[in-house]
Amino acid sequence: MMNKGRIFSGMQPSGRFHLGNYMGALENWVRLQHEYECFFSIVDLHALTSSYADTSKLQENVMEMAIDWLSAGLDPEKNVIFVQSHVKEHAELALLLGMSTPLGWLERVPTYKDKIRDLEGTNKDLHTYGFLGYPVLMAADIMLYKATCVPVGEDQSAHLELTREIVRRFNYMYKKEVFPEPQAVYSKAKVLPGIDGRKMSKSYGNTIPFGASPEELWQQVRMMTTDPKRIKKTDPGDPEVCIVYQFQKVFNTEEANDIAAKCRAGEIGCVQCKKCLAEKMNCMLADIHLKREELSKKPEYIKEVLEYGGKRARVEAEKNMAEIKAAMNIW
Ligand code: TRP
Repeated sequence: MMNKGRIFSGMQPSGRFHLGNYMGALENWVRLQHEYECFFSIVDLHALTSSYADTSKLQENVMEMAIDWLSAGLDPEKNVIFVQSHVKEHAELALLLGMSTPLGWLERVPTYKDKIRDLEGTNKDLHTYGFLGYPVLMAADIMLYKATCVPVGEDQSAHLELTREIVRRFNYMYKKEVFPEPQAVYSKAKVLPGIDGRKMSKSYGNTIPFGASPEELWQQVRMMTTDPKRIKKTDPGDPEVCIVYQFQKVFNTEEANDIAAKCRAGEIGCVQCKKCLAEKMNCMLADIHLKREELSKKPEYIKEVLEYGGKRARVEAEKNMAEIKAAMNIW
């Protein structure tokens, strides 16, 4: 079943991973590893494009992300799991691709100006060469392994489109089909709101940490916003405005309809509904929690896994880099 092609994907190690990140991307990767040959990279160089000034947490974040991936069930034998900066060819290819990538292409990426504006007034100044070049580095990631497929969320589709343009241009300029045009692999995105109903985000303080213990999980579920008009259990509730119901639909698919009907009829109280959700979430996440606890105690093992992945990635990267340089007549 490993015949569907080669995947490359990456995630920035930017701090504590949460359940929204897991449902949005990692859960898909765990499924895709059985169907594709996969390269999964912790893209620490990408993290530097916006967090270049304070790197004090970088190593720790890389380790945490590796622990998250392994506890979610990514298999380090089946997949090549590695740290981007351990393979210097990412930087080398980004430099070469940067020679021919028009500034206009980069300035037109829809998220580019938005992100700069979002961070204005904070201590992050993104008027930098590195930040403008973010999509070139991402193209280099994908192209270095000649990946044919990239699992991406909505937010990354413009970046992938740019990668495809860079591929076409390269193959045309140097008159050799060095790179395949990578295709997006979209999967049904399960979007989880934060516990207050806004987007789940560390900066809002409304996240559920990935690998939460049953107690932590209950703390967060208990705080979830419900229908504000519902005061007593017998008041008819509106599940559509209730965050608990959003979660029931994801974690308790069989009972979600039934619970909604009971809520509308005023037959189930919010606390009971929350208890039931927390129980279902625990069933799904208990193994991940235990695995995470166990792996957190074995930093040496995690380092070994990343070294092993780095070695395997370098074999492929060196081989392809030689071909790329030959096509460009670089001696
Ligand atoms: N830009 C991606 C993100 O922020 C991370 C990333 C870096 C990536 N390189 C990649 C994703 C290559 C897919 C393929 O989510």
